[in-house]
Amino acid sequence: MKEKEKEIEELNLEELQEQITGKDYEKGIKIDNFQTIFEKEKDWYSKSKKYWAKAPATINGMLIGYEHIAEKDHKHSIQFLEPFVSNLSKTNRCALDCACGIGRITKNVLMPFFDFIDLVDSEERFLKEAEKNFSNSGKIMNYFCSPLEKFIPESKKYDLIWIQWVLVYFKDEDLVNLLEKCQSGLKENGLIIIKDETSFDDQFLYFEEDNYLVRSSKHYKAIFQKVGLEVLNESEIDFGDPTCGTTIFALK
Ligand SMILES: C[S@@+](CC[C@H](N)C(=O)[O-])C[C@H]1O[C@@H](n2cnc3c(N)ncnc32)[C@H](O)[C@@H]1O
Repeated sequence: MKEKEKEIEELNLEELQEQITGKDYEKGIKIDNFQTIFEKEKDWYSKSKKYWAKAPATINGMLIGYEHIAEKDHKHSIQFLEPFVSNLSKTNRCALDCACGIGRITKNVLMPFFDFIDLVDSEERFLKEAEKNFSNSGKIMNYFCSPLEKFIPESKKYDLIWIQWVLVYFKDEDLVNLLEKCQSGLKENGLIIIKDETSFDDQFLYFEEDNYLVRSSKHYKAIFQKVGLEVLNESEIDFGDPTCGTTIFALK
């Protein structure tokens, strides 16, 4: 067995959660126990909701001030997605853009490849902005306003579910739950694509201000394994952020 496969097979989420250490980035303090970060927070998602309630409904707002990386991100995503497209439905090809914001990914990555797209985000202002931008496209079926942790995708509807730059706000248990629901939302040859920040080593980085959690790629793989999702491909990209990188995973 190849080394990489062996490593992945050995991962177990509960063991990893017990073993991993991380860092409170703002305080510069080491965190020895991953689970303790969730214990003092009654409503884990309230801080991120507060942040996004005030964020501008612009590309720069979606990218937290890093508008200059948008084009590089779009190119990387298209290159990653393209080889999978021929294996998806030939007609009525349908995608779900999770935590879509104002629809940056729908417009720049998904639109050319899909006949129909659904959008979901917890912030209504962003969906309204998306609706303005896409009114003439004829491709957007639904604008769902819902926190992803409560959203249930329609069964077997989607060829592709894209989830980018939102899972840093998720607790592990909710992430497992979300991926299980997404799995049920896929057509037979459907794919889930996750693109999010990943740490440079096996440690996690925690930002208390908005309960922002940068996991390692190994941590994500343990979550995928728990859900029964296979990693078909992955690619790292460096946007020049000194704290972490970004990894894209294709899952089935
Ligand atoms: C960094 S932006 C990314 C937007 C889009 N995915 C992109 O890459 O352009 C994060 C988005 O996630 C949304 N969001 C944050 N927490 C969420 C949650 N729990 N459920 C659904 N959407 C959420 C925010 O409203 C915002 O639109």
